[in-house]
Amino acid sequence: MRTDPRTPKVGIVGSGLVGSTVAYTLLVRGVHCEIVLVDINRAKAEGDAMDLNHGIPLAAPLSIRAGDYPDLAGADLVIVAAGVAQKPGETRLQLLQRNATIMAEVTRQVVRHAPGCILLVVTNPVDVLSYVAYKCSGLPASRVIGSGTLLDTARLRFLLGQHFGVDPRSVHAYVIGEHGDSELVAWSLAHIAGVRLAELGPTWEQAVHDGALQRIFEEVRGAAYEIIRRKGATYYAVALAVARLVESILQDQRSVLTISTYVEEWQGIRDIYLGMPCVVGWSGVERMVDLPLAPDELEALRRSAELLRRAADEVEP
Ligand code: LAC
Repeated sequence: MRTDPRTPKVGIVGSGLVGSTVAYTLLVRGVHCEIVLVDINRAKAEGDAMDLNHGIPLAAPLSIRAGDYPDLAGADLVIVAAGVAQKPGETRLQLLQRNATIMAEVTRQVVRHAPGCILLVVTNPVDVLSYVAYKCSGLPASRVIGSGTLLDTARLRFLLGQHFGVDPRSVHAYVIGEHGDSELVAWSLAHIAGVRLAELGPTWEQAVHDGALQRIFEEVRGAAYEIIRRKGATYYAVALAVARLVESILQDQRSVLTISTYVEEWQGIRDIYLGMPCVVGWSGVERMVDLPLAPDELEALRRSAELLRRAADEVEP
């Protein structure tokens, strides 16, 4: 439990569409913290800080300013959203080498000035870049977190809520594995009000047999591509996912969230970051939930982990 009365300090490295929208979301949701925006384009960070500060009287009394790496001193949490983003049709893994070089340098600078922080990686490909940040930072794995499949899980809950006619907040289902094309849904554990979807009887059978569930999964997995094709980037929902993570950390909520976490060894998966439900609080990742996956789900997760392992082995930070 957190007892420190001090205002938590949050750094955001990369004040692009995602990073600046994260700052905006924290302001609108009134997440009590001090925000320092760091960007290679200092004028952009200053402009975002000015624009956000003008909203404070209309939102919440946060402290928001632009800065450089030394201004991150004492930060409790540093969000890294710096790097190049997917272009239409580009996969997240295709960004790896370019963003790994950036991530290694950003990590070194952050740890130099804020060695006590939790590092929250958002830049894609988030799982492998979380691994790169972990290896470069020297921080304990519990304090290096990736946004993981939290956004994918939100997309799944939204679509399942629409399909079954319930508030998506009442749908409990997880997307796990890579935040990317090899992700999977733990359908065997999905439930509404404690009733497993597979026990919904005819409603479930129909959804399986008419292909609705497969279509929902494909819509989740392809969401970023469809949004990027239409508007060039995604930033609203991912910013909300990151803000949800920030709340759980700064307020020590210990929420279970599907983040990208370090798996040292679990069910034959070892030494990789991938999306799994974890308890997240002030100290970072408190523990990963030991999901009782169905055999086919575990096999798909192992395939996703293997793909991430190969990508991690090829990258030169
Ligand atoms: C997406 C980006 C954040 O899935 O990877 O929208």
